[in-house]
Amino acid sequence: MTESFELVDTEDVDSPGDEWEEIDVADTEADRIARRRDREFSEFRKRIKDADQFKVEASVFDDATFAALYKLVQDGYIDAFGGPISTGKEANVYSALGGETAADVLDVDDNPEVAVKVYRINASDFRDMRGYLDGDPRFEGIGHDKKQIVQAWVRKEFANLTRARKAGVRVPEPMAVERNVLVMELLGLDTGRAKRLSEVHVENPETAYEVIREYMRRLYDAGLVHGDLSEYNVILHGEELVVIDLGQAVTVHHPNSREFLERDCHNVAAFFRRQGMDVTDEDLLAFVTDDTSD
Ligand SMILES: Nc1ncnc2c1ncn2[C@@H]1O[C@H](COP(=O)(O)OP(=O)(O)O)[C@@H](O)[C@H]1O
Ligand SMILES: [Mg+2]
Repeated sequence: MTESFELVDTEDVDSPGDEWEEIDVADTEADRIARRRDREFSEFRKRIKDADQFKVEASVFDDATFAALYKLVQDGYIDAFGGPISTGKEANVYSALGGETAADVLDVDDNPEVAVKVYRINASDFRDMRGYLDGDPRFEGIGHDKKQIVQAWVRKEFANLTRARKAGVRVPEPMAVERNVLVMELLGLDTGRAKRLSEVHVENPETAYEVIREYMRRLYDAGLVHGDLSEYNVILHGEELVVIDLGQAVTVHHPNSREFLERDCHNVAAFFRRQGMDVTDEDLLAFVTDDTSD
């Protein structure tokens, strides 16, 4: 198959400034639900815990995580849980059938499928997370409490996705965030799990490279650096390339943003070199940072 890899259109982008919204990590509704433990919540928790697709992971979910899922069901983002898609170092991703609110957000008639990314509070590597949060103007004042750090992280991922979309970068549409859980558009048009760029045979790497470097530039122009970009965090969605996993993305103000950008450029250029292309890390970095686009 020869893919066309069309770029998505851009909207007006604000210049990268200091207009970042502050991130609130006060006690969430999910925490309150977990504390209250009324009958309806207890039944929900039991049902989910007993469901086949959660068997393995149920032990690592705390009550407040179940409460976050419960709240997302009540708010119409999730109707029914599907199966696990991925179990990562810090988060599990599940497919689910979205509810009415999810359909509204995506502006579709039928309930859409959604991806639910659940960060495991206990499994998360907090020292790693702190390194990305410290120096980000949005996270001044976040303490060392595990729960607050993870919560800040998930909100950051949501804010980064929103920002990237506005800047004309194709990312999953973020729908809701509740405590340590993020709901977003489910990628993958065929049955089965969406394929990463690392898993497909790329017929026309030149076009794919042009799209990815343009997304890197748009992201940079919008004041963000992905920070973990490689063929593992780009998904093939029909004819589109979609950038995922923006939790660690930092603003250009971050003291390590340049280092992260250089690493991203290296990973991306190295992938396309393996596809037989003659691209250098330096050329890519120059393309991304050189503001000659307008
Ligand atoms: N919106 C989505 N739609 C479909 N699959 C997804 C989505 N987000 C993540 N995934 C799947 O889950 C995997 C892990 O997600 P990712 O956000 O990269 O988390 P991690 O931090 O564990 O790498 C991805 O490689 C992809 O296979
Ligand atoms: Mg990933």
